[in-house]
Amino acid sequence: MSHAEDHEGTRRDFLYYATAGAGAIATGAAVWPLVNQMNPSADVQALASIRVDVSGVEPGTQLTVKWLGKPVFIRRRTEAEIEAARAVAVTDLPDQNAQNRNDMALDASDQNRTLDEAGEWLVMIGVCTHLGCVPIGDGAGDFGGWFCPCHGSHYDTSGRIRKGPAPENLWVPVAEFADETTIILG
Ligand code: FES
Repeated sequence: MSHAEDHEGTRRDFLYYATAGAGAIATGAAVWPLVNQMNPSADVQALASIRVDVSGVEPGTQLTVKWLGKPVFIRRRTEAEIEAARAVAVTDLPDQNAQNRNDMALDASDQNRTLDEAGEWLVMIGVCTHLGCVPIGDGAGDFGGWFCPCHGSHYDTSGRIRKGPAPENLWVPVAEFADETTIILG
């Protein structure tokens, strides 16, 4: 290969990456204002650990809060959602790691991802593990959980990737109940 060809190849690569990067930024800009509206409190964003009052969260609904600059989904699941998540064999999952920040060695069984043993509460970082869009919730997608419309990633009722390009399950942050109606993130 001559010097000229070599140079051309490098330049094309650069242009490709630059374009891909601009696309990712534009997507982020479109998504973030929605999240900011849901939880505008600026003081909360600065803290590494936050307390969230979940007393108003009914079964089958979710709360989205902003924590360390990211949306966090706090979902109170219905019996049907819990049953659907627990009926899945780990060996059928594309990502068999729990992605649980409390213990990364756990497998992706639903029990290893929920906050309580009964599985009513599921807390996850609301960022698609493909390229970082915020998935749509409330039973979206082919598996009744979350759906990322950016490139079509389907997550189940446990937030585990089931179909589409995302490589990992939605992350489960370090979290615990401080009391019956308060969850501490971080
Ligand atoms: S960012 Fe690509 S599918 Fe979610």
